[in-house]
Amino acid sequence: MIVNFTTPGKVFSGLLIGSFNSIKFRKILSRSLFYAVGLIPFLLLILDFYSDRLTAEPIQEAMHRTGKYTLVLLLITLSCTPLKHLTGIKVFLYLRKTAGLLSFSYATLHAVIFFIFDYGLDFFFIKEALFEKPYALMGLFSYILLIPLAATSNHFFMRRLGKFWKNIHSLIYVLTAAGIFHFIWLVKSDYRIPLMYGLVFVFLMAYRVLIFIKKNSKL
Ligand code: HEM
Repeated sequence: MIVNFTTPGKVFSGLLIGSFNSIKFRKILSRSLFYAVGLIPFLLLILDFYSDRLTAEPIQEAMHRTGKYTLVLLLITLSCTPLKHLTGIKVFLYLRKTAGLLSFSYATLHAVIFFIFDYGLDFFFIKEALFEKPYALMGLFSYILLIPLAATSNHFFMRRLGKFWKNIHSLIYVLTAAGIFHFIWLVKSDYRIPLMYGLVFVFLMAYRVLIFIKKNSKL
């Protein structure tokens, strides 16, 4: 009599390969990896803060870093659909939500540094600062628009809101433009970097417009 013993190693590798081929596993893996990479700048910020490496003006430096991370992650969010379209790689679609949520987290940190660490939550000084620095008002406008996107980025709201969900999420175009405008506005002399962000945004928008025209001309 031949008994076919399957070793625990084989069972484990079979399960692993089976899981890796499943969409759910790939989704979880790609999202977890992206979250891990996306959190590195945050850990570096904390590390630099505790080791006194955040320049002579740590609050300003932290504002600059978190503002940049927010904008970069918003542009990555907007790149996911064109990248999926160009390469056919589905992973880009899984990363869209992760990049969006990471962007919201950095924007929240940016706002917390401004309101709590810089202005000690003193509403009188905050109101004065917002009127004195209108670019900060533009940042606040961009952040306020980001809140409903983050709050409704799950399947529950996707199903509940139906067509309206897409309308809410179209706000990403307005808030990214506002974020770039906020950056251009606050820069005093060298406009090259904010304009570079602006150029990437215009390019991503132009790609979307082209796809829209192509789709509609086929109808
Ligand atoms: C509560 C909302 C916000 C407030 C009050 C705010 C305010 C500020 C302030 C005070 C600075 C530093 C200016 C300086 O000292 O030079 C700054 C920088 C910046 N913020 Fe915001 N901001 C807000 C939201 C946002 C959002 C939503 C974005 C992105 C979409 C953003 C992107 C940036 C960028 C890119 C910088 C400049 C980074 C650099 O200089 O390298 N901010 N913001």
